Amino acid sequence: MDIDVSKYFKPNLNEARKRSRKDVSHDQFQLDEQLKTIGHGKKYLIDTYGCQANEADGETMAGILTLMGFEKTSQELEADIIIINTCAIRENAENRVWGELGRFKALKRENPDLILGVSGCMAQEENVVNRILKKFQHVDLVFGTHNIDQLPQYIQTAMFSKERVIEVFSQEGHIVENLPKTRNHSKKAWVNIMFGCDEFCTYCIVPYTRGKERSRLKEDVIQELIELKQLGYLEVTLLGQNVNAYGKDFKDNDYTFGDLLRDIDTIGIPRIRFTTSHPHDLDLKTMEAIRDCDTIMPFFHLPVQSGSSSVLKKMNRHYTKESYLEKLEQLRTIVPGISVTTDIIVGFPGETDDDFLDTLDLVEKAKFEGAFTFVYSPREGTPAAKFEDCLDPQIKKERLYKLNESINQGYLEGNQRFLDQVVDVLVDGPSKNNPEVLAGYSPHQKLINFKASEELVGTIVKVRITEVKTWFMIGELVS
Ligand code: SAH
Ligand code: SF4
Ligand code: F3S
Repeated sequence: MDIDVSKYFKPNLNEARKRSRKDVSHDQFQLDEQLKTIGHGKKYLIDTYGCQANEADGETMAGILTLMGFEKTSQELEADIIIINTCAIRENAENRVWGELGRFKALKRENPDLILGVSGCMAQEENVVNRILKKFQHVDLVFGTHNIDQLPQYIQTAMFSKERVIEVFSQEGHIVENLPKTRNHSKKAWVNIMFGCDEFCTYCIVPYTRGKERSRLKEDVIQELIELKQLGYLEVTLLGQNVNAYGKDFKDNDYTFGDLLRDIDTIGIPRIRFTTSHPHDLDLKTMEAIRDCDTIMPFFHLPVQSGSSSVLKKMNRHYTKESYLEKLEQLRTIVPGISVTTDIIVGFPGETDDDFLDTLDLVEKAKFEGAFTFVYSPREGTPAAKFEDCLDPQIKKERLYKLNESINQGYLEGNQRFLDQVVDVLVDGPSKNNPEVLAGYSPHQKLINFKASEELVGTIVKVRITEVKTWFMIGELVS
């Protein structure tokens, strides 16, 4: 059967590429009284894939659904609404979602009243929405990253008019404040300081799925942190695709990320982290703020992507191998002992053996204490998807393997400096691999296991490190 797809609001990558010069409006979320009860007696399940930005969006959707009277469940069979909150960063992330969507066909047959929704970055892709429309007719609702605040209206339409709701905007409009949140953790919170990305690294889909870079007002960020402090949160991670560009879109002042860190430090939340930083925009003001502010943790995730200056150029990263290493040295001089991790892509189109050797050389020199490593995955609509890619997949795998070996070495060396030291640990709960011990993270973002009573979960305790492994450290409780 041919479906008339013209009546829906679908995304368009060409539109998403454009950056408007219009000011971003800052609006307040409000929920109509009549929508506050439509979820009574009903349950929701949100399944989130992807990065912290997507997790934060999932918490907002959960907050909105809770305000509408829905209750959370982790059981698919008892859910009245299931939302798959998707990620588009690599092909395997997307394939997992297609598998899940296929699986839900049977569930929907058994429970025709179930509302099945798709949100997140995949929903912003034209080809994805077309495929859902044609081949996944059991999906009732598709909405993107720019209109989460309109979820109540979409659910109302899906519930009462039994119509499919497909509404994805290619261009971001506004920043919506005051959105309710049901956070997944009672001591650690995500806080968006900005949305979108204007970097356009040639391999990356994010500038298309998340729109132009736009910063939240500092007053709004600070107000959210004050509330988290009052609720007893011990750690906040500030989120942005490129936090070092925070404030660049403010036209009436020159307040930047370093200023924000200093203001946030005065609130008194014990641990402040942030992710992610772009090396090109990382400035002295930020480094000095980390040095001067006790609550800003001595940990830095600084994605390098490649150690070859020629690959970096093709990636549109705006720095070279040498300038990256110089910035790293500057950071380590200003904040001695800071722990640095990174992201690296292997097998970018045209990457030669020499390019890869440059990456290994950079890894050795940079002394990273961990990295997320990926094989390049072409993303439709990005410039790199059109670059000639003749590298044998086997060679890409071998490069990934070699790179990981080198990274793991750095991980272990980085951990060794903590042997016999006493570190503060924010206790998350029993360890996933060994429920006999507790697990938590140190200021340098090192995973620490130690024996102690579960009453300590959700507090910060002192632990002496007694044994160092590649992925974690073992310690004993001091106080
Ligand atoms: N804004 C952040 C996060 C981007 S996504 C940043 O700039 O660091 C996280 C990581 O996924 C990136 O750092 C990159 O290493 C990787 N990545 C992005 N697009 C990719 C692609 N097409 N193929 C493989 N890895 C990719
Ligand atoms: Fe993607 Fe580059 Fe933006 Fe990170 S900085 S989200 S890698 S375009
Ligand atoms: Fe994925 Fe979108 Fe985050 S593509 S990595 S969920 S910004």
